[in-house]
Amino acid sequence: MTLIDGKKIAAEIRSELKAEAADFQAKYAQQVGLAVVLVGEDAASQVYVRNKIRACEEVGIRSFAHFMPTDSTQKSVEDLVCALADDDRVHGILVQLPLPAHLDAERILSCIPRQKDVDGFSAANIGRLALDEEGTVACTPLGVMELLHRSGINVAGKRAVVVGRSKIVGRPMMLLLLNADATVTVCHSRTNELKRICSEADILIAAVGKPHFITADMVKQGAVVIDVGINRIDDKLAGDVDFDRVAPKTSFITPVPGGVGPMTIAMLLKNTLDCARRSVR
Ligand code: GUN
Repeated sequence: MTLIDGKKIAAEIRSELKAEAADFQAKYAQQVGLAVVLVGEDAASQVYVRNKIRACEEVGIRSFAHFMPTDSTQKSVEDLVCALADDDRVHGILVQLPLPAHLDAERILSCIPRQKDVDGFSAANIGRLALDEEGTVACTPLGVMELLHRSGINVAGKRAVVVGRSKIVGRPMMLLLLNADATVTVCHSRTNELKRICSEADILIAAVGKPHFITADMVKQGAVVIDVGINRIDDKLAGDVDFDRVAPKTSFITPVPGGVGPMTIAMLLKNTLDCARRSVR
């Protein structure tokens, strides 16, 4: 069993991106810029946003942080995002989710032009992914592909099972694996025979959001298991995989924390740099 060290791989990627961001700045006389918008006081979101801003600083990407009060109006948030859309210093715009319940997230996200959609959440970018055309792909599933690639795991021809069908992880994960020539099955809360399907997977991606949901009897001997879950139990982080019992059966497995998590921010930085590069070509 090999433990996939996401923390180490993410640090390597950040150091590569630092050199690439400096090259961009030298060549085009402008710094790569990312705008981050946080509305409200959600504690987890505040931690994520702080980490994103810190990561930008580390690699030499200029961050434009906008913190708005919980009771912000729909119009005030839309006006901000539209202004960022028009700002040439800003190559990527990220609106941290979830937004407060009184706001229409869909309408706010639709103010982000496709070219600055660093999260890859827009219909235009998801459509491009579905058609296997160039565009921006959601950071977490992109991070999973990068972990597989940098661990020397070839997915072509393999049987991949994705558990979870969310817009942010499961669906784009399915498309990325398909585009990489895996044979892909997507399971979800209504799936019959979940255990049998999972136990046929060469590559099992757990993105359910339920702690220790994937148990050893659901995993084939020698499978690759990627755990996307971040669940908080009594202030401790737990993945979607029952790691202690599953790990001995696997060829490769990611831990939580220190697996997929650090890759998400590394891919956000990569997507921002890619958006900047496309803006000048
Ligand atoms: N909230 C949880 N994950 C994400 C993410 O990847 N992007 C944004 N914008 N919000 C999130």
